[in-house]
Amino acid sequence: MEPWWKHAVIYQIYPRSFADSTGDGIGDLMGIRSKVPYLAETLGVDAIWLSPFYPSPQADFGYDVSDYCGVNPEYGTLADFDALVAACTEAGLKVIVDLVPNHSSDKHEWFIDSRSSIDSPKRDWYVWRDPAPDGGPPNNWLSVFGGPAWTLDERTGQYYLHSFLEEQPDLDWRNPAVRRAMADVLRFWLDRGVAGFRLDVAHRIGKDPEYRDDPMAEGSLDQLGKDMADYGTLDHVNSVGHPDAHGYFKEIRSVLDGYGDTFSVGEIHEGDWEKWASWHGDGDELHQVFDFSLLYAPWTAEGIGDLLDAQEAAVGDRFWPNHLMGNHDEPRLATRRGPAAARAAAVLLLTTRGTPTLYYGDELGMVDADIAADRQLDPWAEGAGVPGRDGCRTPMQWSADPHGGFSPATASSTWLPLADGFEERCVDEQIADHDSMLSLYRDLLTLRRVEPALHGGDYRRREAPDGVLAFERAGVFLVVVSFVDDPIEVPVPDSSVAISTDRSLDAKSVSGSLTLQGNQAIVLRLS
Ligand code: GLC
Repeated sequence: MEPWWKHAVIYQIYPRSFADSTGDGIGDLMGIRSKVPYLAETLGVDAIWLSPFYPSPQADFGYDVSDYCGVNPEYGTLADFDALVAACTEAGLKVIVDLVPNHSSDKHEWFIDSRSSIDSPKRDWYVWRDPAPDGGPPNNWLSVFGGPAWTLDERTGQYYLHSFLEEQPDLDWRNPAVRRAMADVLRFWLDRGVAGFRLDVAHRIGKDPEYRDDPMAEGSLDQLGKDMADYGTLDHVNSVGHPDAHGYFKEIRSVLDGYGDTFSVGEIHEGDWEKWASWHGDGDELHQVFDFSLLYAPWTAEGIGDLLDAQEAAVGDRFWPNHLMGNHDEPRLATRRGPAAARAAAVLLLTTRGTPTLYYGDELGMVDADIAADRQLDPWAEGAGVPGRDGCRTPMQWSADPHGGFSPATASSTWLPLADGFEERCVDEQIADHDSMLSLYRDLLTLRRVEPALHGGDYRRREAPDGVLAFERAGVFLVVVSFVDDPIEVPVPDSSVAISTDRSLDAKSVSGSLTLQGNQAIVLRLS
């Protein structure tokens, strides 16, 4: 039998921003639970991935975990989590949780113990090194969030490693005790009924055992597609992705396999397709590796088509691609690509071969909020001089009510402001409108679910005029997407429109040729 995740659509929830049941302006697990009918029935996704909801000082909004086996009181309790899993299971939704293996919070009891003395039994759970001869950091590694990746602990006279904030010390995966503790964390959540894990900055757990300097990057290496300030000056070959991580992934996989049909997907930013594919192992490491290329690539037919081809070649028949076009670290799809292309992107995301991962609110065409300086919260903006990620993390837009229906109307405010235009870009407004973004997503999801060619069939690129990408799925559907603003004539075989970004074309027959309007995408059912 095929694993469930192969034909699934995953929906990412940022718990702080999905639904606030208590009125404190912060989303919570009971809020998410109240939206299970929306997720399972209205929209029709198969699994939810919850960004971290664990106890955390929130220095990096949950990606600084101070207890891997609990729930932050802001979000509820373990009983709430169990109730959420039960509601999801009943509705046929799988639950995927975030595992943050590379680093904990500096407030985690493991690190508090580790930093207490050089002789602490937990000292070697983290990466401690003596200062360089000049008293400076042990090597030149940089923090993604800006500045050196090392902080001196004055009391014990050693530096500790942190690939992100100094409040996020890196665990040492070379230590078997750390790996055993993480395996216990996996079991803790698997025992509570989760179907799998998204592994945060997954291949960072492999680091050069000799902690050698990272070499200078050729030109300006910009793997993450942002202006990464000084982080981009180095080629992170020693600080990230050491092959030892293969062994760690195998250990993780064997824990997962002990629970049957489970799932793991790694957040791995890797531009080399061969290396990228290698993190699946021989089918004994990660089940899937996120592909970020569709998110960053220039929006051109050739660029996107070539990427899909390259990924198909790397994945082959052995693995199954995972595509995404947005997450909690990136400007929103509709902001990045513009409103018209965002509709075409929805068609592309839901009709290419692979497992799509949707980011909450993208199904409404939510845009980034312009956050006033005094309300900005993301620590990245501060450290690395980049715009910050608050804009894509604003509350979900349920209705035109105060706070967009995210918090009860009586709440005094929400943790981040609502994005502009939430009154139109909300579930209540869009649900009954056949032309809305939400209806487009919902209908694409329905089509995808009922059509094996779309959720499981092969992919074949087809010839198309410049500016148009065309591909077939299992000889049953032909998808044509325009990446240009002007109308363009496209030759097509006898077929009928299964769904189109211009909904007035749905169900029309076409033959010989078709005029695609600017940024239009059409799924044709071949006769
Ligand atoms: C990942 C997360 C991001 C977080 C970082 C550090 O990239 O997606 O939100 O800041 O890891 O944990």
